[in-house]
Amino acid sequence: MVDAKLQSVLSSLAQPAKDLEAQSPGQRAPDARYVKLNTNENPFPLPTMVWRSAISALERQYLYPEDDNIGLREAAANAYGFSKDHVIAGNGSSELLGLIYRAFLAPGDSVAMLSPGFSFNRKLAVLQSAKFLEVLWSDSHSIPIDQLLFGPAKDAKFILLANPNNPTGTFAPIADIERLVAQSDRLVVLDEAYVDFAPDNGLRLVRRHPNLLLLRTLSKSYAAAGIRVGFGLGHPELIGRLRNIQNVFNMNVIAHAVGVSILSHRAAYEENHRHIRHERERVAAALRHFGFRVAPSHTNFLLARVPNGQDGRWWHAALEREGVLVAVFPDDGLDHCIRISIGTKEQMDSFLAAVAAISERLKRGG
Ligand SMILES: Cc1ncc(COP(=O)(O)O)c(C=O)c1O
Repeated sequence: MVDAKLQSVLSSLAQPAKDLEAQSPGQRAPDARYVKLNTNENPFPLPTMVWRSAISALERQYLYPEDDNIGLREAAANAYGFSKDHVIAGNGSSELLGLIYRAFLAPGDSVAMLSPGFSFNRKLAVLQSAKFLEVLWSDSHSIPIDQLLFGPAKDAKFILLANPNNPTGTFAPIADIERLVAQSDRLVVLDEAYVDFAPDNGLRLVRRHPNLLLLRTLSKSYAAAGIRVGFGLGHPELIGRLRNIQNVFNMNVIAHAVGVSILSHRAAYEENHRHIRHERERVAAALRHFGFRVAPSHTNFLLARVPNGQDGRWWHAALEREGVLVAVFPDDGLDHCIRISIGTKEQMDSFLAAVAAISERLKRGG
């Protein structure tokens, strides 16, 4: 009886993820004919010198990558003005988020996130058997400091916020974040995945506040989501605790080479960032013309409230039928919204043409 034996083996194993839904089958990369605007990628090629560094890294494919990501951490430390002891590197900032949960939470502990926020955090809390407290951004998308410090989240082991925030695209002034960090005696994790599209950033706070851990990624503004490079910046004691539990040789030689090269060629991305800001505003204006309500964005995506009559899921399905993929957030109180990543001019033209066609059909009652 293989099944009975399997059942007995499974029940003898710990199951930290038992509160999660059954493993989803995963999704294949969509057909290249789709216009993919659902995961906030930056669909531009790497600058030539960064691309060359990836190719020459392939010549070292038989070697393990450098121990403890030293060269990559040094490059990030130089770029951001710290020593390498202030830096941890990982396979994207999502790997670093996972480390933070594992390093700093025991079963039964609680963690607080400003909500709506990056929903991957919910899964990480469940995996750690931790309580996940969602504290709503205030109406004006400012930080509800008193609620975080004195409300039900006051015992949370750490507070998480993304700035600019995903999925809202909103940006909170750094002075407000500093007030929270200064008044809190807890760890604050500031996820700056989209910060290169924003007017300011929290790097200077890392120097002033030992209870701040800042996350960066090369996935969004540096067009390297598939290479998987992210950084954590914070006090060496905090960073040391994370490095202690990290896998050996966790990153690969291509990620090292591309990461180092991007960090020393950041100026090569200025045109890319200009393009994204420009397209973002063009698309926002066009969407308003079709009756969408679009929140001001400081990221490479837009969150748009769809016109009355339909909800976000309806538009998601209608756009998919037109060959355009966008994201929806029905579990985050955003039933009437869609999130659109900003891509090339051609991709955004295709998106707007799809919106025009759908709006026209709706007008005709079809
Ligand atoms: C707010 C936020 N943080 C972190 C990530 C993870 O990025 P990566 O793991 O690619 O660095 C994302 C990706 O969508 C995000 O939106």
